Amino acid sequence: MSPTSADPPAAATVTPSDSTGLCEAALEHGRIDGGYLVFDDGPPALGRALQDGMFLVDIPADVAVATGDAFAEHFFRGPTSPPYGEFRDITSDSFGDPLLGFHQRANKSEQFLLERRFWDTRFPDEMTALGEAMTRLSSHIMAGVLAYSGIPYDRWGRATGDCVLLGGTYHLTFNHYLPTHLDLGLNPHQDDGFLTILRATTPGLEIDRGEGTWQTVTPPPGCFVVNFGLAMEILTSATRTPATAVLHRVSGQRGDRFSFAHFASVTQTPGADSGVHRYLPATGALERVCTAQDLLHSDYAASDVATGT
Ligand SMILES: [Fe+2]
Repeated sequence: MSPTSADPPAAATVTPSDSTGLCEAALEHGRIDGGYLVFDDGPPALGRALQDGMFLVDIPADVAVATGDAFAEHFFRGPTSPPYGEFRDITSDSFGDPLLGFHQRANKSEQFLLERRFWDTRFPDEMTALGEAMTRLSSHIMAGVLAYSGIPYDRWGRATGDCVLLGGTYHLTFNHYLPTHLDLGLNPHQDDGFLTILRATTPGLEIDRGEGTWQTVTPPPGCFVVNFGLAMEILTSATRTPATAVLHRVSGQRGDRFSFAHFASVTQTPGADSGVHRYLPATGALERVCTAQDLLHSDYAASDVATGT
């Protein structure tokens, strides 16, 4: 993309981090106000966030983040540890989808992943409420991005497989990284969907914003981390403010690390894949590029890491 007056300014600068030897990434910081995504530094900050592939957003009041924290710290402990330890015994066999349920990954991490269509029947009410609140947050963020990218409102449904209209596919994932390995906790990857909203209270997340250098991301306790995935990168790639599906990883841990995340993707229930599209501003057309399943199994979003953060 050649520089124009509409281009966002260069990526934010970095400052040294004493704790790891890496630099801490300086990210834009937004919030939801009246249902709209806003930034104190004005709309150009969203342009910089799109270019960075990641930004911070204040946790809205209707998101019971403490409930998610409690689940993340207990789901792997087993049935003798109520109220959430029993989820260790709920595996992919219960869902007919090899990605869902409880998993152990190479003795590095433990994960519980559940798609929205199962939240009502498998989660306690407070967890379903958390998932729905994070789905609303994802919709507000996506709407802000689509509007900023110049995609007309009447194309939003087809452009996102109804994801921006609360009709996409959504997952909640909970992660426990074990301190038994000092190797990477999660290999470098890009997420496959439109965006990921991450809660992490322990350091470990690192990003490479295309400069060949890893930077740490340590969100303040009152913020989620939002990162864009391959579906958003493709959708906006021909616009004047393309999003970056930022490369990220989790460092090796010296203590237990807990996190949880919400993934927003195009509709991809069995037998129904609404496809991934690119918006073409010159004609207003939506070009179908591939299926959501193609992205999930692409080189950069291998299925064993794409659901972790
Ligand atoms: Fe990820």
